[in-house]
Amino acid sequence: MSSETKNTVSTVKVTIDNITIDVPAGTTILNAARMIGGDVTPPAMCYYSKLEGSGGKCRTCLVEVAAGSAADPRPMPKLVASCRTGVMEGMVVKNITSDKVKEARAGVVEFLLLNHPLDCPVCDQAGECHLQDLGYEHGKEGTRYEFERRTFEKEDIGPYIQLHMTRCILCYRCTYVADQLTDNRVHGILDRGDHAEISTHISKAIDNNFSGNMIDVCPVGALTDKTFRFKNRVWFTKPVYAHRDCPDCCGKVTLWQRGDEVLRVTARKDEWGEVCSYEGKPGWICNTCRFDKKSASDWVIEGPANINRHSVISQGHYTGLQKPKETLPEVMGGRAPKLMMDIHDVSEVNKIELSQLPGAATGNDFNSPAAKEA
Ligand code: SF4
Ligand code: FES
Repeated sequence: MSSETKNTVSTVKVTIDNITIDVPAGTTILNAARMIGGDVTPPAMCYYSKLEGSGGKCRTCLVEVAAGSAADPRPMPKLVASCRTGVMEGMVVKNITSDKVKEARAGVVEFLLLNHPLDCPVCDQAGECHLQDLGYEHGKEGTRYEFERRTFEKEDIGPYIQLHMTRCILCYRCTYVADQLTDNRVHGILDRGDHAEISTHISKAIDNNFSGNMIDVCPVGALTDKTFRFKNRVWFTKPVYAHRDCPDCCGKVTLWQRGDEVLRVTARKDEWGEVCSYEGKPGWICNTCRFDKKSASDWVIEGPANINRHSVISQGHYTGLQKPKETLPEVMGGRAPKLMMDIHDVSEVNKIELSQLPGAATGNDFNSPAAKEA
């Protein structure tokens, strides 16, 4: 077979929101849209390209197929989940150009928010929550839901991960991480429908060196880092790329720092919010790197992290930063301003080593005699 013929059979032409692209045969509509990028790409709350079998649970990625293929150009009768539908030669897909999709997606957001508490002001995921973004970008202002939201018995799933079941949207990503990255999955989704919940059933600690990756894949604040809880808002921290020579994982991470303190360590994320890949392998990180290496001296700092998402975290951060000219000395004839305080001289906030607290920060940490003396 000539290489020309091979190319013809191995790629297909698909048009998404009036943009035509050639993609390898077998690509899903979602991944074809990701190859185009930008607004053309449907949001995905459950699909995760690094987790086999993920997708098909949340329906946020619905698209309209206006023409099934060149051979059979009839439209598909219903909207389809783009993460689970393969492209065909000559397929025409509508995402943001379809009113049906916009309406359906607003409905999906409403469903996802039926039971989700609106506790963003106290949730550690705020600022990097995909449901928050989804709500703003695709949801409606109000809710029609009049009933009480679900509540669950609190469950302790170990020393590192905090489970808030009320925030879970049942995307199953964390169960795939446990299945595919750890050798012994001890949690899963129990029950069905309104009662479905993530649970270890016997409150068994999720104790595996790669279990922390469940925090990174969780699109909402259902699984958060206990060692970072209540220590800072994510938009006040500065994300910095760093690496170390780790025997267990790729050792490439993002450090979330305040000053020189490392408050949190996560895997590096790509523009879709998924962990980055290195040499074709997903850059999952081990619990030692994530929870135990909380000192800047444990790491080789590479520089400011690229925050690709149009997130609040990217506000005011570094790359390409152009500082305005400092005019105070000029207008004051070189004298230092006397009436202005340096906030660091008067604020208590920098006096506690938050990174040294083993668990969540609480009011007691700030009211302790040691903190007051500091
Ligand atoms: S805990 Fe998070 S990752 Fe796990 S199913 Fe719920 S939303 Fe998904
Ligand atoms: S991302 Fe496709 S159904 Fe959830």
